Amino acid sequence: MALIAPSLLSADFTRLTEVADMLNQSEADWFHLDVMDGLFVPNITFGMPVIAQLRKLSKKTFDVHLMIVQPERYIDEFRNAGADVLTVHYEASTHLHRTLSAIRKAGMKSGVAINPHTPVDLLQDVIAEVDVVCVMSVNPGFGGQKFIENTYRKIEKLCAIRSDAGLNFLIEVDGGVHAKNALKLLQTGVDVLVAGNFIFSSPEPLKTILELKRLI
Ligand code: DX5
Ligand code: ZN
Repeated sequence: MALIAPSLLSADFTRLTEVADMLNQSEADWFHLDVMDGLFVPNITFGMPVIAQLRKLSKKTFDVHLMIVQPERYIDEFRNAGADVLTVHYEASTHLHRTLSAIRKAGMKSGVAINPHTPVDLLQDVIAEVDVVCVMSVNPGFGGQKFIENTYRKIEKLCAIRSDAGLNFLIEVDGGVHAKNALKLLQTGVDVLVAGNFIFSSPEPLKTILELKRLI
């Protein structure tokens, strides 16, 4: 069964308590929390203090997606704020192997995200250190962007790498996920669907989450 990870980037930030309550009642599995620094990506969102406050509102898995330069600087801080999965970008981490093992050592699941221009083959030498591979299906920075079709090909390759290596990391897709591409993504091998705009612009987010959850 696929995991559904609503991205709070598209939620109403003046009503985070209600948003957390809605997600707690929903079939959503993870909270996807997008941290942006205005350097790695051209946008700035929120950091540890907001995540620590949200942590008090939910017991669900917190999937923290760091779109920041040198993410290794803040591993313990995000763990202390309540992250369960901590994802760093391949393009932002010079010593990626060290960073991923440090995330696991800190007691979290390790995630690596790749931008649309980054080939999945570049993960071969760190893949044993990875619990979640996040395939970006938009250029990171903003919600509500158009899904990049080449993503399917990357997911297929990643599935092959996973079975060849006998590993069981999760494949997550992030960006432009909606009703029309979600089923095909799951059929291609995705385990975790991140969706921001599709869920939070829906008049009935609970139903929209259920719709995604019931696809497979
Ligand atoms: C984009 C973020 C995504 C974003 C997805 O940089 O990493 O998590 O919120 O939003 P949608 O589903 O609206 O493309
Ligand atoms: Zn994200």
